[in-house]
Amino acid sequence: MAASQSGGLIESFLCFPHNIVMISMVIGKDEFDWQRVQSVEDLELGREYLFRPEFVPLLYSYLGVRPGLTVADIGCGTGSFSRLVARGLRGKGKVIGVDSDQTLLRIAGNRAEQEGLSELLEFKCGDAYSLPFGDETFDATTSHTLLGILRDPTKCIIEKKRVTKQGGIVSAGFDKKKSPHFS
Ligand SMILES: C[S@@+](CC[C@H](N)C(=O)[O-])C[C@H]1O[C@@H](n2cnc3c(N)ncnc32)[C@H](O)[C@@H]1O
Repeated sequence: MAASQSGGLIESFLCFPHNIVMISMVIGKDEFDWQRVQSVEDLELGREYLFRPEFVPLLYSYLGVRPGLTVADIGCGTGSFSRLVARGLRGKGKVIGVDSDQTLLRIAGNRAEQEGLSELLEFKCGDAYSLPFGDETFDATTSHTLLGILRDPTKCIIEKKRVTKQGGIVSAGFDKKKSPHFS
């Protein structure tokens, strides 16, 4: 597990080497309405300060992000974390951001274009519990502040593992303070 602290937020990352899933969560609660505590604007403004520059290379290492890889970022929202991951590809590879909200996906596409990352990024509508991809499609799968809001985060992790190639890394970042399901 890796942790960074900046701007008063503590972000934790669980990174699972393929086939080893260690998890400690309470499941079966209601889906968490994240927009009650976080506005859509927060997804962009807050994220700018979340990761200190010196932490980012370590983050890429934990996430298994390298040039030439294909990565899926599940629950991508407006795509701020997807863009961070895309920069780690250093011009070669692809990040597919997946979200169930079409409005956020439209914003994500526009932001990627504004930041000159369109070549490296695609966005797709889909459900984290039933990802619209075949088995072993991606070199790595990420998510950022998604698991903590899902009613059944384990189901999502199993689905991420399904679409990740053998030897790939399934990772999940979450805000400890705002994730009701994590113990
Ligand atoms: C707290 S936001 C995080 C967005 C982004 N990862 C970030 O860190 O800025 C959670 C996102 O998960 C999406 N989401 C929630 N449930 C989902 C599901 N079942 N399938 C796909 N996306 C989902 C929401 O639409 C929202 O964009």
